[in-house]
This record gives sequence, C-alpha cells and structure tokens, in this order.
Amino acid sequence: MIECFQRIVQKEMILMSEKYILMNQNKEVLKFEFDKELNVIISIDEVYDINFAPLTIKNISDEKRGSTLNTWFNDRGIPLYRDNAKDIIDIFGIDSVKQLINRNYALSVSDQYWFKPEGSDIEWKNINYFEKNYDSFTFAEGTYGSGAGKVLGQNSVRNSDKTPNNTSGGQLKKVWIKKDGENYLYKGSGTIHNFEPINEVLASKICEILEVPFVRYLLDVIHTKRQDSVVSICKCAINKDEEIIPAYSVLTERANEVTKTINDYYLYLEILEEKNVPNAKEYLQKMLMLDYILLNEDRHLANFGVIRNVKTLNWDRICPIFDTGRCMNTNVTKAYWNFNEGEVKCFTNELISSFELEKIFDINIDKEKIERLKSLDKAYGKMLKDYQEYTKLTDDEVEMIVAGYRKRIECFEKIQKV
Ligand SMILES: Nc1ncnc2c1ncn2[C@@H]1O[C@H](COP(=O)(O)OP(=O)(O)OP(=O)(O)O)[C@@H](O)[C@H]1O
Ligand SMILES: [Mg+2]
Repeated sequence: MIECFQRIVQKEMILMSEKYILMNQNKEVLKFEFDKELNVIISIDEVYDINFAPLTIKNISDEKRGSTLNTWFNDRGIPLYRDNAKDIIDIFGIDSVKQLINRNYALSVSDQYWFKPEGSDIEWKNINYFEKNYDSFTFAEGTYGSGAGKVLGQNSVRNSDKTPNNTSGGQLKKVWIKKDGENYLYKGSGTIHNFEPINEVLASKICEILEVPFVRYLLDVIHTKRQDSVVSICKCAINKDEEIIPAYSVLTERANEVTKTINDYYLYLEILEEKNVPNAKEYLQKMLMLDYILLNEDRHLANFGVIRNVKTLNWDRICPIFDTGRCMNTNVTKAYWNFNEGEVKCFTNELISSFELEKIFDINIDKEKIERLKSLDKAYGKMLKDYQEYTKLTDDEVEMIVAGYRKRIECFEKIQKV
C-alpha cells in the first residue's frame, strides 16, 4: 500500500516537473529541472558553459549553485513587495506574482537569459523582446487602471504571456510596452510625496551636465476614467547583445572582501578596472555626485551596474544611470526635510549621512558646469508646479523643494577642491 502511494507521488512529481535549458541568447548554459506547481528549480542536471551564466551563478561553488539559481530565478520576477502586486495577482487570476516568471520563456529586456524547454527547437531570434512585438494590455490595466491598456496603445490581448513585464523588478508600479519597435518603461511613484518621476527627469538633466551616461526620463500622465498617474518614461538601456549586471552581482567577483560599508566603493571600482570598464572611476564618482546632490536614498546594489556583451562577455560600459527618483526628500515627512545634510545609500543597506560621500570624491566639476547645475532650479520648479495637481504638493512645499535643490548645489560647490 505504502509502496503504491510512493509510486503515485513519484509519478505526480514527474508530471509536475519539466526540464529546461538556461540559455544566454544562443548559448546553452545549463540544464535544470523545474517544478511548475511550486515554481522552484529542483536540480541542475548538467552544466554546459558556466562562463555564460549570470555572474552570481558562475561565481558560486558547485554545492550552492542550485540554491543560487533559485534566488536568481526569484529575483527575476516581480517582487512580492511591488506596489501593485495584489492588483496584478487579481487581474491575472493567479495566486502569486511568482507564477508569472516562467511564462513565455522567462525572457526579459534587462538581459538575454531565457528558459528553453528541453527538446524544443525554438530559437532566440524568433522570440526575444528586442526584435519581436509583445502585448502588455493586462499589465497596463492592472497597473494604471481600467482603460490604461488602450491609452498605452496595447492591443487588448487579455492575459497575454508574451510581455517582459513578467520578469521586471523593482518596487514601483511599472509597465514595459513596445512602441514603434522600441521598448519603453512607464514607471509610477510610491513614496510619501510622490514626485519620483519629476526627480528622474531632473536627474537626467544633471547627468547630461556632468557628462556621465544616463537613461533619459521624460514625464507624462496616464489618464483613465478612474485615475490619473504621473509616470516617468524611458527607453531600454541595452541592445539585444547586452545584459545589465547589477552591482551586487559584480561584487560576487570578490565576495569574501565585501564589507557592506561605503568602502565597498573601492572594491567595486577595482573590479571594474580589472575588467577594463571604460572611465569606471570618473563615471562612478559622477553617479555618487548625483546622489550627493539629490540626496538619493535608493542607490542600492540593484540600482546601478555594468553592461556586458553576451557574445564576447566583455564588460563594455557602465550601465547608464537609472532609478534616481527616490530623492530630494520625496519619501520623508515634511517636518523632517533637511536639505543641508540628508541621507543617502552607498554600498550600504542602511542610509548614511551625505557627508560621508565627500571622502570618495577626488575629481572636480568645473565652475561652468556648476553654474549650469544651479540654473536647473527653474526647470525643476516648473515641473513641480506643472504637476502639482497630481502630486498634491502645496506652493509652499514646492518652494521648499526648489530652495532645497539650490542648497544642495551650494553644498556641492563647497566641496569642490580648488
Ligand atoms: N531603462 C532600462 N533598461 C533596461 N532595464 C531597466 C531599465 N530601467 C529599469 N530596468 C530594470 O528594471 C529594474 C527595475 O527598474 P527600476 O530600478 O527603475 O524600478 P524601481 O521600482 O524604481 O526599483 P526600486 O525597487 O529599486 O525602487 C531595474 O533594476 C533594472 O533591472
Ligand atoms: Mg530600482
């Protein structure tokens, strides 16, 4: 009787599991067994070429590779703490956002990994989101409200699996859509004062002046029958031959030296320099200068990184700066607004004083650029005013934020070495 039961359980397990090849574009990386009920990777059956694996998986010991692959898999999906995870669950009629990860080959627009069912002759060139169209109707509706699908030009294809939104990270509400052959990310807000999209645009303007590669964000409002949502819009930062390697993954190159303090900046820089990433020091320092100016509370280790070519495995360039919205006290109650010092995140889990960043800077920004940074106060003030209807910031608060920006540039000017 017991034997019979065990046989049934075993048979059930086999039926619930499937074999996949983890692919990096056209390259076979490894074969694994996947439990489609539990959405977990049960085992790694065979490794073909570990060099083409995600860096965290390549850099881990054989014994820990299975669990690291599962962590990587989970991190690939919408986080459970996504602002509208519940809406997504409801609109798709699923139990957890985790169930979305392995849909349509688990393809993404932030790298070129995908899951190929064993025995399938499907080819990356016929399915990838860089060259092929997809439909994000249900995601648009579940994110920005009923009617948003049409507003964003989606084709009313309900519950389509074919969308990179199944594999998009981050806390904020967001939708990837394809327009005129280009991938665009529409990202909302989710802080106390809700002006992250405006900050993203300001950050783009600062990066332009500092001459550091950046993702350009523009502002828009998605109007539907029941809600208006201010969003930032940006293009995808990579092409079809590239992947973003987040900083936490970069640090696995020398995992035993990581201290989780600001000093990891030096370790990170060394790794980038070993890999010949062009202008690593200049661009890293400029990113942290941006964070210093704007009091960015969110430069965690998934919010910057490098770009690797998936064919050559060269670390070609710094990832253009993205996700700088949670700054300028947008997530701080007004009574605590402090633009003179304020806090930032820099290789740490906790927030640290912005003063601590100063020790890192050893390049100077010239006077002409600082003057241009100063003059952004008007553009910033105008955006804050133009979108007041949605952010609900009062005139007084807008004045305080713009004055806060001026203060930040004043602080930044003072730390320039003459
Ligand atoms: N322009 C882009 N091109 C390619 N991938 C992107 C782009 N912007 C964001 N991503 C990917 O999507 C993830 C989430 O985006 P982003 O960091 O902007 O969202 P977020 O919700 O603000 O994140 P967080 O939780 O850090 O606040 C990023 O970590 C990155 O992997
Ligand atoms: Mg982010």
